[in-house]
Amino acid sequence: MKTELLTVNDENIKKAGRIIVDGGLVAFPTETVYGLGANALNDEAVKNIYKAKGRPSDNPLIVHVADKADIARLVKEIPPKAEKLINAFFPGALTIIMNKSDLIGKTVSGGLDTVAVRMPKNEIAHKLISESGCPIAAPSANTSGLPSPTRAKYVIDDMMGKIDAIIDGGDCEYGVESTVITLASEPPVLLRPGAVTKEMIESVIGEITVAPAVLEGMKDDEVAASPGMKYKHYAPKAKVVMVNGTKEQYEHFVNSKTDAYALCYDGDNVNIPKVTYGKENDDLSQARELFDALRELDEKGAKKVYARTPHKDGVGMAVYNRLIRACAFCIIDLQKPFTIGITGPTGAGKGYVCDILRSKGFKVINCDEVARKVTEKGSPLLDKLCEVFGNDILHGGELDRALLAKRAFDTKEHTRLLNSILHPVICEECKRQAQGLTVLDAPQLFEAGLEDDCYKVIAVLANKETRINRIMKRDNIDREAALLRISAQYDDDFFIDNCDYVIYNNGGENPLTQTENILEVIL
Ligand code: TXA
Ligand code: MG
Repeated sequence: MKTELLTVNDENIKKAGRIIVDGGLVAFPTETVYGLGANALNDEAVKNIYKAKGRPSDNPLIVHVADKADIARLVKEIPPKAEKLINAFFPGALTIIMNKSDLIGKTVSGGLDTVAVRMPKNEIAHKLISESGCPIAAPSANTSGLPSPTRAKYVIDDMMGKIDAIIDGGDCEYGVESTVITLASEPPVLLRPGAVTKEMIESVIGEITVAPAVLEGMKDDEVAASPGMKYKHYAPKAKVVMVNGTKEQYEHFVNSKTDAYALCYDGDNVNIPKVTYGKENDDLSQARELFDALRELDEKGAKKVYARTPHKDGVGMAVYNRLIRACAFCIIDLQKPFTIGITGPTGAGKGYVCDILRSKGFKVINCDEVARKVTEKGSPLLDKLCEVFGNDILHGGELDRALLAKRAFDTKEHTRLLNSILHPVICEECKRQAQGLTVLDAPQLFEAGLEDDCYKVIAVLANKETRINRIMKRDNIDREAALLRISAQYDDDFFIDNCDYVIYNNGGENPLTQTENILEVIL
């Protein structure tokens, strides 16, 4: 098919309107992103939109109108809150979902009983809809799964030869798609954030809820409130990872990388190849430039990208929502003191995995060493320990660790007391030592409540027999003593349930490969 490129003038808009009336497809600018339009009331034409985009047929389209008066016939009724939103934000970057009338076919609505309605503010879009004299169904004019087009050039990249015409109306004002809210249910639910913010909406209709999938990945058993939520989105070819932290933390992190791109703000001090998306404290600029930046990264052939995490308020929520999808929900959180917590039962080989991580450039903090350090001669902790476990645990100021262990592990209550004295001080010292990419080697990670301070927690597990043999050899103790130590710890199921990843280390498996695979996913 020959795709006609149309510049903006009255004659061309008329021509585009005729193409729509005749059942063709026209890509056109809106203030959000470019749309790929067809007559919403022509089932065959609408089917061709899905075909051109490669869009799953259960993902409904937004129906665009030129006038508020055109909405009534598309819906069963306009709920009072919808009326208020229409008066406040139409024309504009807001899409409202309501129960559909019979005029809306199953193809447009993706088989749902509802319809999404929007009235764009962009003058070209407005003229085109008026010219064609029908509501225009239009998703974003990109190939399904790719970033939405904010410039005609990207529409050309994706749609050339697949549709009848493209109107080149320059760059889009907002750069992210419209806010989508459903009023087909009560209370209203925000399904997709955009330039019309949650705060703006709430100032008109009171409190609304935000669908959980807006800021987090969907759980495996979750049903999508909006079909678009479940599909991969905005994904460039590069693997993108979001890096959460201060400007300095981010800069320090990316500047230690090779073979990667930074997706950062104007003015960030980055000395690896970079593409910027807006300014640090200007969410509108971030929204406007994000999709453009994602496409640019592809054009540059970036394979791996570290993106600065946007704020989540105001229009930032829309930026975060798009970027987290481009990242397939992969985040490195540098604001947690520890990048990785390593835990697991004694004898499983945590130390070996920590050695691997150290060789990969991580700083490793060993909790047992820290525990030793905070109970060295002269430490104020020793007085507390003496109060509870007796003055004779000290010999000339030095702690008799064996005696303390004997007294502290004789009953559960004594163990609890010991932990309540030691853990807070150990945790504080570990956090003080944390710096950059840090691994916390913590056999008692959960007992000390350190799991929330770790970005990811990995358990190292091994069979019981293997562990018993390792402990006997390592600590020169008999089988009974080894069994006693093992019995005081959590079982494998606990670690499997509570950790993000598990590495098996029985000797047969390859812990190096397992560790590398995990790093590949989380970094
Ligand atoms: O800014 C925009 O909204 C652009 C311009 C062209 O108007 N359009 C756009 O359309 O972004 P699209 O199809 O790319 O995204 C529409 C989103 C999809 O995630 C879809 O699942 C959801 O809205 N949606 C549409 N109708 C729906 C319905 N009846 N119920 C729930 N979600 C719906
Ligand atoms: Mg889209």
